Amino acid sequence: MQSKLPNVGTTIFTVMSKMAQDHNAIDLSQGFPDFDCPAALRDRVTHHLNDRRNQYAPAIGIPELREQIAIKVEQLYACRVDPDHEVTVTAGATEALFDVIQAVVHRDDEVILFDPAYDSYAPAIELAGGRAVRIPMTVPDYQIPWERAAEAITERTRLIIINSPHNPAGSVLQREDLDRLAGLIRDRNILVLSDEVYEHMVFDGDRHHSVLTHEELREKSFAVFSFGKTYHATGWKLAYCVAPAPLSVELRKVHQFVTFTATSFIQYAIADFMRDCPEHHLELPAFYQQKRDRFCELLGDSRFTFTASAGTYFQCLDYSAISDQSDVEFVQHLTREVGVAAIPLSAFYAEAPDTRIVRFCFCKDESTLERAAEKLCRL
Ligand SMILES: Cc1ncc(COP(=O)(O)O)c(C=O)c1O
Repeated sequence: MQSKLPNVGTTIFTVMSKMAQDHNAIDLSQGFPDFDCPAALRDRVTHHLNDRRNQYAPAIGIPELREQIAIKVEQLYACRVDPDHEVTVTAGATEALFDVIQAVVHRDDEVILFDPAYDSYAPAIELAGGRAVRIPMTVPDYQIPWERAAEAITERTRLIIINSPHNPAGSVLQREDLDRLAGLIRDRNILVLSDEVYEHMVFDGDRHHSVLTHEELREKSFAVFSFGKTYHATGWKLAYCVAPAPLSVELRKVHQFVTFTATSFIQYAIADFMRDCPEHHLELPAFYQQKRDRFCELLGDSRFTFTASAGTYFQCLDYSAISDQSDVEFVQHLTREVGVAAIPLSAFYAEAPDTRIVRFCFCKDESTLERAAEKLCRL
């Protein structure tokens, strides 16, 4: 059979997590916590499971959950959204991203994205028959080069994908970046897909600048968020997309035939938890900043060099003082010989720059971070 994605292999996250397991290495590769989600949330899940919430939920998500999402979005971003027409619940952010791209991108359309880029974007564009125009971010601060983005715009540009806080780089966009983006697409038929799954992981007193806070961008954007990240429950695959009603209509056309709906009892549980424990997400920046600080402190005596991440639960480390290997060789060596798994940054590039940088995930218990750092400091 002729492949529709001839250049796509198995995602690096699966490859590295498997290698970590095979070699019994501490897994700081794929982004998932090794601590559990809140007990009160698990209680609500079992409650609704036993309460027989086990049949199809409405395709766009249960009203109780969309209502809570609308309340949260208004509180956080001063943005009023209509839960019936502007909020769509999906089976993970991965599904929302896929649905948006299929809904918007026509054959031969161009989509601008910035490398390093989360690895689900480009294959989704290819499946839609579009072309990814990949612009490298600046190194080592991982900012968007807006001049280059402006030069890349053509008559065929249909969508620009941004991601802040940024996986894998850990950088965050500022208000000025949103202004630049708005200026770029003004009076053009171009939409924005804003991947904001790490919205609650912004550090050092900064805050997350959502496209929903920007009046002009909000009208042209799909903003994607993930409950998996926010509630330490990546395996539940529950997320949502906020977009103006006409855009949501198109998104929902695709969503209904990709998954139709997301798991019902989990939707009820999260709706309850959002209502009863709204403080949970407000505590996340401090919770994760403490982990970032601890991880960086532990690596203070290592030969890695780094700037502390401004957001996400990832920390990039430069290993050029340790090895000349490529980043893929280096993470293989780390996993097999050192006993710590990480992700090579080149996996997120069309054409990787000549850097020696790998990504570590710090959403782990302190003891895990300590054990990993001890090994890394021996290098
Ligand atoms: C930038 C980014 N977008 C989207 C996703 C996917 O989120 P979900 O697990 O909700 O599908 C991830 C998960 O790691 C991510 O890092």
